[in-house]
Amino acid sequence: MRIAINTGGGDAPGLNAVIRAATKAALKRGWEVIGLKNGYGSLFTDKPYVELNHDNVRGITMQGGTILGAANRGNPFEMPVKQEDGSYTSVDKSDEVVQKLSDLGVDAVVAIGGDGSMHIAHKLSLKGIKIVGVPKTIDNDIVGCDVTLGFDTACSIATEAIDRISTTAESHQRVMIVEVMGRYAGWIALHSGLASAADVILIPEIPFTLDSITKKIQEIEHYGREHAIIVVAEGAKQKNGDTFVKGKQIGQAEQLGGLAQYLEKEIMERTGKETRSVILGHQQRGGSPSTFDRLISLRFGSEAIRALEDKDYNKLVVMKQNELKRIPIADVAGKFKTVPLGSDTVMTARDLGKCLGD
Ligand code: F6P
Repeated sequence: MRIAINTGGGDAPGLNAVIRAATKAALKRGWEVIGLKNGYGSLFTDKPYVELNHDNVRGITMQGGTILGAANRGNPFEMPVKQEDGSYTSVDKSDEVVQKLSDLGVDAVVAIGGDGSMHIAHKLSLKGIKIVGVPKTIDNDIVGCDVTLGFDTACSIATEAIDRISTTAESHQRVMIVEVMGRYAGWIALHSGLASAADVILIPEIPFTLDSITKKIQEIEHYGREHAIIVVAEGAKQKNGDTFVKGKQIGQAEQLGGLAQYLEKEIMERTGKETRSVILGHQQRGGSPSTFDRLISLRFGSEAIRALEDKDYNKLVVMKQNELKRIPIADVAGKFKTVPLGSDTVMTARDLGKCLGD
């Protein structure tokens, strides 16, 4: 048995722990393991993979990033190809990817990725590739599972950053707006906003009005507090408004951003209070994984190998109520999990008097 490990899409803390656990569990069974360098796109290069062994997966559980490299332009079905005029077009190279994996003697793939990667994994499985998926994304937006690897670390980083921003907000009597990642789901904003005692938390699931935010800030001032903290998910939208999009490259998901700057101007004008915005950005994805993320990543990696051993192909390894389960990749492909409006976390935020923008 020879397997390939692929880390698709953006990186997340915990990827290396999955690579280590999957490699060790596979080697223990006498299998060979290769890691695809920088995603499926590398299959079209001279050095598409690295042989994984006990030596090169040693000491990586606590390392951020991915030793294999990541690429969010590695969709075999929409591979960006440079044209003569320098512009890019997308080409379906999935059949070539299937052929190249077969040429490398790969019997099965462990695909570690988010919703986009699972969509690709599903389509590759329809072309005959045996795949087991591992749910990775700081956004926590994969359906069918309680939590994805990287989310816990991202929330801790965001919470700590907001804590720090709060002290400077207080010193300067300012409104501080902190934009966090999460794409079209508000998990990071809601969890880190609640944990850091933010006053306003804006998530994509609840369209906001500027009136509601202004009212909350005036209320805070009325009770004698001079500073306020607003946490916004990058994908949050104004009522009847659109998501703030920075741009889109061929073969990539759209890049979100711009909401924090927009709010900075609007809130300053409406409240007369000095307002600043901070975009936390990629630091949420960087650095060492939390204990929780290390552990689920190791568990996911080793379970993926057990799934392959059981010939339980085209499944995604997930955690449900703290137990590992395997669900069809087909059930999650092309979908994403948003924050349920009736969830106890949302109700907790409301009970604590947080403004959710509505
Ligand atoms: O999906 C993970 C994520 O970090 C999102 O939260 C964010 O919108 C996006 O990736 C950023 O992608 P990039 O690394 O391409 O800027």
